[in-house]
Amino acid sequence: MLTLSPSLGKVPPMDALEKEILLSREVIAKRVQELAASISRDYEGSELIVIGILKGAFIFMADLIRHLTIPCRIDFVRLASYGANQESMGKVIITKDIETSIKDRDVLVVEDIIDTGYTLSFLVDWLKERNPKSLKVCTLLDKRGRRKTPFEADYVGFSIDNFFVVGYGLDFDENDRNFADIYALKPLMGGKKK
Ligand code: IMP
Ligand code: MG
Repeated sequence: MLTLSPSLGKVPPMDALEKEILLSREVIAKRVQELAASISRDYEGSELIVIGILKGAFIFMADLIRHLTIPCRIDFVRLASYGANQESMGKVIITKDIETSIKDRDVLVVEDIIDTGYTLSFLVDWLKERNPKSLKVCTLLDKRGRRKTPFEADYVGFSIDNFFVVGYGLDFDENDRNFADIYALKPLMGGKKK
């Protein structure tokens, strides 16, 4: 597990930020394979429905499912949460629902990062109402120190400190999702542009 400091509070404006690699593509790839191996072992003999949370989880999910050795189907859900300064304030809505029946099925939700916990708490309650046989959550990143509501994922790639991160699907204001590595955004000394 990775723990980094010092903590970063609210995200400053883009022109006052610099990026530093937090997790390289090689480190990510190795951990994704390990996660897929654990999941394949845990669900041996079953067919899994993997539900990705758009948009952030799309790259992680694409890599993860290619390492699964069990049969799986995929679907996606899209959520919106309201808040300021990149922080969810607890009001979450579904803007695109899944299109697959999950009743009596084994379901794995795949997320890019857990921060306050509001998004996944809401989604798990929403999906449980459809009576899946089982429901677990896999997140690539976990900012455990920032929870506003208790939430524990079943599979966690990396626990990180309070950095705002971009790349490998994660965005800052819809930018940087295409970066192959994960970067932490940090304030520049003196607020200089880089
Ligand atoms: P939560 O409801 O606060 O747990 O929010 C989780 C969502 O916030 C994630 O799905 C991301 O979309 C977004 N998010 C939280 N932290 C970060 C970050 O450091 N970088 C990019 N997106 C983030
Ligand atoms: Mg997200």
